[in-house]
Amino acid sequence: MRAGTLVLYTDQPARRADLRLALQQIAPCAVLDAAAMPPSGPCLALVADLDLLQPSPLVGLRTLIAETPALPRVFLMRSMGERSLSAARSLGARLCLPMDTPAETVVEALRAQLSPPAPKRGPDQRAAGAPLIVQAADQAGAVIAKLLDAARGSGTVDATLVDRSLDPILGAIGQGGLTAWLDTVRAYDDATYQHCLLVAGLAATFAIDLGFSAADRQQLVRAALVHDVGKAKIPLEILNKAGPLDPAERAVMREHAVLGHEILVRAGGFDDAVLAVVRHHHELLDGSGYPDGLAGDAIDDIVRLITVCDVYAALVERRPYRAPMPAAEALKILKGMDGKLDAALVRAFERSVAGS
Ligand SMILES: [Fe+2]
Ligand SMILES: [Fe+2]
Repeated sequence: MRAGTLVLYTDQPARRADLRLALQQIAPCAVLDAAAMPPSGPCLALVADLDLLQPSPLVGLRTLIAETPALPRVFLMRSMGERSLSAARSLGARLCLPMDTPAETVVEALRAQLSPPAPKRGPDQRAAGAPLIVQAADQAGAVIAKLLDAARGSGTVDATLVDRSLDPILGAIGQGGLTAWLDTVRAYDDATYQHCLLVAGLAATFAIDLGFSAADRQQLVRAALVHDVGKAKIPLEILNKAGPLDPAERAVMREHAVLGHEILVRAGGFDDAVLAVVRHHHELLDGSGYPDGLAGDAIDDIVRLITVCDVYAALVERRPYRAPMPAAEALKILKGMDGKLDAALVRAFERSVAGS
């Protein structure tokens, strides 16, 4: 049994007893109605079994989250639709499960958040960096959510919003290390958020290890965060398809590079290097990429850097239908793409990933 209280916010009278009983395997559990304020003592974790789209402002839940931003949390969702998921993310959700998830699975999900895997090296590294990592990941996740929502809706993407998350990411990676970052952001259940955060973490690590200036580090992370903003315009049934895309779906998916470029040009505030990354991060040195079939020197260095991070992230990310690929295997695939990816950059990236 752990010190502190688990908080279960619920509007489901029929389920609260079962959930409470299961959660008490971890720690004493306070069961609260949507309108109730959180308990005064230390809280260990939160389970929100609430309709997040209800008119109630959920003041108690928001107070608890504001007071303890790094609190482990699981959201049980009435719907996995975009509006509900967006509401959950605005509350810092990193794990959203369907409302009929068995209580034991909820307990296991919470245990995983409460006992994250140990770092590969540097025993003090994670302890020093973990809260920073969680906070920076939450902040960057919220930025990506707002970015995609804006791109999907009004199209007014705010460059200054993106910039506010650059230093927290670089600081968290610098202190907590890449492994802890990858472990943390893999808990995001939304594939696009998870992917953008993985690419941002890889880009931050790469920029730090390559000895980039502060301005260049920020530039690379900025480009990484927004590189797939065009996915906001891709139909969700294609974007979130649980399995390989057919050729027609792949053609639609490929439009995200041009769409993202258009969104950022229209929004303003993004420089040429970032715009080039968004449009060209799927170009390959041998000219076989898209959308413009660029080859060799026509592909800028910053684009090549993000492309390496992007390909690697796509291999190691967690998807519901497959396990993440081990780092060694993913690096082998990258090295096998000689002629398509910049071989010198891949070697440097391997050293960076292996050393983190
Ligand atoms: Fe992409
Ligand atoms: Fe990507």
